[in-house]
Amino acid sequence: MELERLLRSQGFGSRREARALIWAGRVGVDGCVCEDPQARFDPEGLLFSVDGVEWIYRKFAYLALNKPAGYECSRYPAHHPSVYSLLPSPLLARGVQAVGRLDQDATGLLLFSDDGSFIHRCTSPRKLVPKVYQVETRHPIDDRQVAALLSGVELHDDAQPVSASACVQLFERCVHLTVTQGRYHLVKRMVAAAGNRVEALHRVSIGGLRLPESLSEGQWTWLDVPEMALQAQGV
Ligand code: URA
Repeated sequence: MELERLLRSQGFGSRREARALIWAGRVGVDGCVCEDPQARFDPEGLLFSVDGVEWIYRKFAYLALNKPAGYECSRYPAHHPSVYSLLPSPLLARGVQAVGRLDQDATGLLLFSDDGSFIHRCTSPRKLVPKVYQVETRHPIDDRQVAALLSGVELHDDAQPVSASACVQLFERCVHLTVTQGRYHLVKRMVAAAGNRVEALHRVSIGGLRLPESLSEGQWTWLDVPEMALQAQGV
């Protein structure tokens, strides 16, 4: 692939902008400056740099972000900064999108990708991808509430009860709740319908993919095999 095209595919601007970067000597490939926009490289696993920052060519981008509270999962947020402001500009330019959403006040695992079919497989209601949330509640959680969450609670916009596929009590006011749907405020509404109230919500995993422990709040990391991890859960 020509260097100019390769840079464009990785979010480094238009054809003109990519050429300008190359001609200015700002692009390195495998450790050497390359000033020829037409120079051809095998893109698979190619290590390149722009202004000294190293990148690896990736046909598709798959990322995990540890979402902090106080960020909206929208490109055009209304009241809080956008989660997209936590990602570097080449990733935004190549069109990564959040895979599903977390509320402004929720924290934890948020995936991003520019692979449309991956996003569809993760978010399609028919795929039933399990998502595990650590839920801290205002009141102690009793057995009756756990039973209600597991057998199904009614939400005001749907006569069909919604159930959690697992509910593991960790502390008096804390459970790990597994749900397979991705509806608006789902966990908060389920917990409210069971007679309690969510005080803090943290997504621990999606499919077989856990939030990496090394990732602090606001940090993101590349995922190389998200599909395999998610497939392990039948996605
Ligand atoms: N359920 C909620 O209520 N909020 C989220 O952000 C995710 C699931």
